[in-house]
Amino acid sequence: MNILITGSKGQLGSEMRVLSSAHPQHHYFFTDVDELDITDRSAVSAYVQSNAIDLIVNCAAYTNVDKAEEDEATAQKINAEALSVLGNQGVRVVHISTDYVFSGDEHRPCRETDSVGPRTAYGRTKYEGEKILLAACPEAVILRTAWLYSSYGNNFVKTMIRLGKEKKELGVVYDQIGTPTYAADLARAIFVVIESPIWHPGIYHFTNEGVCSWYDFTLAIHALHGGIECQVRPILSEEYPYKTPRPHYSVLDKSKFKKTFGVAIPHWMDGLKRCMRVLNNE
Ligand SMILES: NC(=O)c1ccc[n+]([C@@H]2O[C@H](COP(=O)([O-])OP(=O)(O)OC[C@H]3O[C@@H](n4cnc5c(N)ncnc54)[C@H](OP(=O)(O)O)[C@@H]3O)[C@@H](O)[C@H]2O)c1
Repeated sequence: MNILITGSKGQLGSEMRVLSSAHPQHHYFFTDVDELDITDRSAVSAYVQSNAIDLIVNCAAYTNVDKAEEDEATAQKINAEALSVLGNQGVRVVHISTDYVFSGDEHRPCRETDSVGPRTAYGRTKYEGEKILLAACPEAVILRTAWLYSSYGNNFVKTMIRLGKEKKELGVVYDQIGTPTYAADLARAIFVVIESPIWHPGIYHFTNEGVCSWYDFTLAIHALHGGIECQVRPILSEEYPYKTPRPHYSVLDKSKFKKTFGVAIPHWMDGLKRCMRVLNNE
């Protein structure tokens, strides 16, 4: 297959590039906004045609939750309207969405059939993108994920390592519960989807297994890093100056993905250990 990967300089796109070497039967076209802007309909159509693309993996997105509040129009273009561009190319699409489509008020893992209720501009635009893509391309696969991190790009893991080294004491929220997800494991899940002998369109939830708070996650990051003496203190969300509300409980139920594709998913601690090995060797 000729596979176009958009947003390939981001966390997930970078992990797709790493993993592609283990799947040499495909031909890959890695692009980011400087080369192929997914909001540019004619550029995307020309690129798909001239490279005989069979499948698009959309790793591109407007992911800054706070900035999206101030500039929802741009987030809407990239997270929503561009899905009409990608979905109308006459090829299969694998797209990534988010736990932010839910309100975060539930106290049990969210299923794909649960009603959504985004509370942020980012969540609203990502949900719009899901609807636009499924209308344009009913064959599409959408993987909703959460708390994504990687050895590439900026993310919570790298921030906590930096702050742990800089500060003697650090308050981290313990009343937001979710599942940290190693982007390398999400990239693996994408290959499971695209190499499945039967194509299974629709929405799926995919994160690592298990749950924790940001506070627990930070303790694990510091312990695995080693040599960090910072005292981490649990705080409430109301004690942290969030610009944008964060979901209190954003655990996703992955039963549908595991049953459909017949795979086990690694626990978040296992994913974190592998990512920390990469970071500690850099
Ligand atoms: N990060 C998370 O915690 C999280 C949680 C749940 C779901 N997700 C979803 O997971 C997916 C991957 O996230 P990620 O963390 O890998 O994102 P990321 O690191 O922010 O990467 C996104 C990439 O897309 C690029 N991009 C932005 N606008 C574009 C455009 N118009 N055309 C082409 N490329 C464009 C970005 O370039 P610039 O950097 O230059 O803008 C960046 O390289 C996204 O769909 C995201 O919504 C992420």
